[in-house]
Amino acid sequence: MYVAIMGYGVVGSGVAELFMKNHESIVSKSTQSKLELKYILDIRDFKGDPYEDKIVNDVNIIINDPEVGIVVETMGGLHPAYEFVSSCLEAGKSVVSSNKELVAVKGRELLALAEKKNVNFLFEASVGGGIPIIRPISQCLAANEIEEVAGILNGTTNFILTKMISDGMSFEAALKLAQENGYAERNPAADVEGTDACRKICILASLCFGKHVYPDSVHTEGITAITLADVEYARSWGGVIKLIACTKRIDENHIYAMVSPAFVSKHCQLAGVDDVFNAILVRGDAIGDVVFYGRGAGKLPTASAVVADIIDCAKHSARKKVFGWGDAVPDYVVSHLENETALYVRAFSEASDKLLGRCAAVFGKIETLAREGAPDDEIAFVTPRGKEGELREKLASIAGLEPASVIRVTDY
Ligand code: HSE
Repeated sequence: MYVAIMGYGVVGSGVAELFMKNHESIVSKSTQSKLELKYILDIRDFKGDPYEDKIVNDVNIIINDPEVGIVVETMGGLHPAYEFVSSCLEAGKSVVSSNKELVAVKGRELLALAEKKNVNFLFEASVGGGIPIIRPISQCLAANEIEEVAGILNGTTNFILTKMISDGMSFEAALKLAQENGYAERNPAADVEGTDACRKICILASLCFGKHVYPDSVHTEGITAITLADVEYARSWGGVIKLIACTKRIDENHIYAMVSPAFVSKHCQLAGVDDVFNAILVRGDAIGDVVFYGRGAGKLPTASAVVADIIDCAKHSARKKVFGWGDAVPDYVVSHLENETALYVRAFSEASDKLLGRCAAVFGKIETLAREGAPDDEIAFVTPRGKEGELREKLASIAGLEPASVIRVTDY
């Protein structure tokens, strides 16, 4: 059996490197007598590259070659990845993808096409980089009703927040370092605005709860508004700020799903997840909480998940794996304003004591926070838990309160 790679960037080159490095054991685990890399598709030429002889510039060479049974898509982006992957599946080839955007937007359609063609469409690397999460949820935890998933799903933002909090590095310098290390997306706005984490939680929500969840149905906030003052208040509250992607089952036909920065207690396992590491907490009705942790981005960690999928496709070349989810349904993702949370609020006021008094009166009880070096007119507090929409209405009703920051507070 032959393999082709489409997209020879950070992840694609990592796949070729790992596939060749551990080739003997990979072939033996694949149960095939032969598993060879035949083509690498890219629009660029790679003079002097060890696999220069495998580079092709025309996708039709791969699609029309009956010897190619498995195609790896590590191009990223929706187009032309979607067209190329569809054509490969149509041609009866199994496809392995690391492309979060493709799976989040076209996953249901591509899974259905793979089923029709009796081939596999696998995407372990699309969530959590090298961390096993798709297969554990669909296989190892299959006996559970999954109740909730919460995770740090973007390595770049976690890396930036860690460098800001621990090393006092500027946002821009930390982002540049993440780009140099190959963690960031081609357009890093997708990382820092939360879009990448949103795509990943859509994939997990679809997998856990059985209906396709589209990114545009998920409320998403990034980390660009987080200040060092907020970081300090989180510390004084007893935790850290993390970009959390979460989804929760409400009933058969409704879920919550959201991406936003959040205060996480230092006692929660997610609080200790630093640098490019990702962690995903899965709550099942039989297992309770289980946490998956590891490198969420980077060349070889991501290649590790891709190559494992190649092996799985090769092993299941005669009999397709049964795997996937159903169509999207309207109003399936309920507004985040219905969800229960507490809110951290930071604001400025000349009469800060009086303002805090009014806030306490409206909420019944608040937890006031302090930080060293705070200006005299700065206040910060945490509200009691309640429906987010109701908490925000109360905030809006307080005369003289114009919040500089409002951040959700988790109860993990
Ligand atoms: N840009 C992504 C991240 C790459 O930083 O997590 C892995 O999906």
